[in-house]
Amino acid sequence: MSMLETSGRKGNAGLGADAGFRRFRRLRRSEALRGLVAETRLDPRDFIYPLFVRHGDGIRDEISSMPGQYQVSLDQLVREADDLKAVGVRAVLLFGLPAQKDEVGSEAYDDQGIVQQAVRALKRLDPSLVVITDVCLCDYTSHGHCGVLDGEEILNDESVELLARTSVSLAAAGADIIAPSDMMDGRVAGIRSALDGAGFAGLPIMAYAAKFASAFYGPFREAADSAPQFGDRRGYQMDPANGRQAMAEIEQDIVEGADIVMVKPALPYLDLVRAARERFDLPLAAYNVSGEYSMLKAAVANGWLEERRAVLEALTGIKRAGADMIITYHAKEAARWLA
Ligand code: PBG
Repeated sequence: MSMLETSGRKGNAGLGADAGFRRFRRLRRSEALRGLVAETRLDPRDFIYPLFVRHGDGIRDEISSMPGQYQVSLDQLVREADDLKAVGVRAVLLFGLPAQKDEVGSEAYDDQGIVQQAVRALKRLDPSLVVITDVCLCDYTSHGHCGVLDGEEILNDESVELLARTSVSLAAAGADIIAPSDMMDGRVAGIRSALDGAGFAGLPIMAYAAKFASAFYGPFREAADSAPQFGDRRGYQMDPANGRQAMAEIEQDIVEGADIVMVKPALPYLDLVRAARERFDLPLAAYNVSGEYSMLKAAVANGWLEERRAVLEALTGIKRAGADMIITYHAKEAARWLA
């Protein structure tokens, strides 16, 4: 650091307090000063790392649309648990690729399902890890929709029943948090009452409360093999145009018993992260989704962005907007950089 920066005596051309402006730069003179006045800090303990688990042995397949992310078999979870512990990330969000898909997503609520097995394995490897399970049918249904069908109609209440059944099965496997992402109406109430009835009254629900029908889930659909086989998700996920309705969705999930609420995606919806923060007192999660991750990775691969700075800036923005926790594929790397 130069004399000029440390002494503060030079370079002010004689302008005094009456110069008619404030010298904001006084507190930007060094890393330590900037650290003192930083309003937002990233902490690996706020990160949730998504994991894709699949059947088989010795599998660690990179997801081509999400460089640096993998589909892993159960035996490879050791490595994940070790990595996460080493960098201080203490929560994961599990997604599963079933052995077989069918009309009603049977493996989602099978006690021997891939996610049920992964929960047991992870809790055995690291009991202090917070294991969150995404609850939805789209990974498990042959048609790729988040609920069950009558013709081409996605049935609401029948789907909620299966989501509740899935939740109880995951609770029994040892999940720490149940996270419904399907966007059926009334699913938080349905899941809450099923969990309570099965002796899991103490288990929290993280509701994907304001989840938008977003193009930014594109890369994930390859990761989870969950693209709908006809139509799209606009009949149940939210219209990106609607901010007031997002507040209504969040409020309803809280009424139904959610313990943590979520805005998803994160970066194009930071106004709603902020609005939810101001309006509700529950813990707030933001999901920095696959497309947000892959866009950045692609730009980095082209040499257009400096990865470390861009990632930390994006995550800081999400935190500054008001998120308490961030679900992000950058979690491991960001945590390493923050150490
Ligand atoms: C399942 C689900 C999706 C995501 C999380 N849970 C896909 C979707 O709704 O289409 C997206 C996550 C991401 O893009 O990173 N319903």
